[in-house]
Amino acid sequence: TRTIAVSGSASGIGKALTELLRARGDEVIGIDLVEAEVVADLSTEEGRAGAVEGVLERSGGTLDGVVACAGLSGPLTLAVKVNYFGAVALLEGLRPALARAERPRAAAVGSISGTQPVDEIVLRSCLNGDERAAVEAADEAVDKGRGRTLYPSSKAALAQWLRRSAVSPAWAGEGIALNAIAPGVVLTPMSAPLFADERMRKVMDEAVPMPLNGYADAVVIAEALAWLVSPANSHMAGQVIYVDGGAEAVLRGSEV
Ligand code: NAI
Repeated sequence: TRTIAVSGSASGIGKALTELLRARGDEVIGIDLVEAEVVADLSTEEGRAGAVEGVLERSGGTLDGVVACAGLSGPLTLAVKVNYFGAVALLEGLRPALARAERPRAAAVGSISGTQPVDEIVLRSCLNGDERAAVEAADEAVDKGRGRTLYPSSKAALAQWLRRSAVSPAWAGEGIALNAIAPGVVLTPMSAPLFADERMRKVMDEAVPMPLNGYADAVVIAEALAWLVSPANSHMAGQVIYVDGGAEAVLRGSEV
């Protein structure tokens, strides 16, 4: 049995992944604000430390996989705290436990939004590991009506951190495959409000064109994440894979 920690396990993609992995016989240690094996708030330093400690306790100190899925959208500073700092703290904090496993794998959930315009100060502060500066810049963006850049900034920073880290001695050097899935629009409680509003839906369809099969069910993303943390994935490192109905190819064309 492989033991895999999944954040955001109580809803949407994380929940679908948890069910899929359990059905395959893996042991899942879920992390979420509610209804999880490890209840923790990944927006705070104490919460992140508690999450790492809780997972280490339950796993006995060795982990075969970690998936950082918890996140939220919206023009909020909180998105930067959870989507970037929460995800990185969880992955970094559990890295030593992964290094002890025989075929360790880690994955994060990015977003097609990571290809959209960002707040450069927020992005740079994230990559510098300076949460205080990132939060300050994010608060300012919200004040100035530029809060919409925060979600893309958090996901772009996560993708860049991941590409850098995945090939470093700490990850690749320890045999840990680290990659991300970047979804387009997925039908989950997070995206539900967008569908309730006809105008919002139009804006979204223009921002995220999905010529292949349209909006995805959460299980589609879960299947891809499950493969990333499976033993079969022995040689992929630092990749951000768009499972987005073709949106990235439409938007970025020949950029590969
Ligand atoms: P969701 O809202 O259904 O699930 C997110 C889970 O994360 C929830 O259970 C929530 O409690 C948890 N979470 C949020 N803040 C937390 C915190 N501070 N501490 C601990 N747990 C926390 O959303 P969904 O759609 O399943 O999203 C999962 C991931 O997929 C997110 O990272 C999101 O940004 C990403 N994503 C979602 C897309 C979509 O269209 N639904 C598109 C692209 C990316």
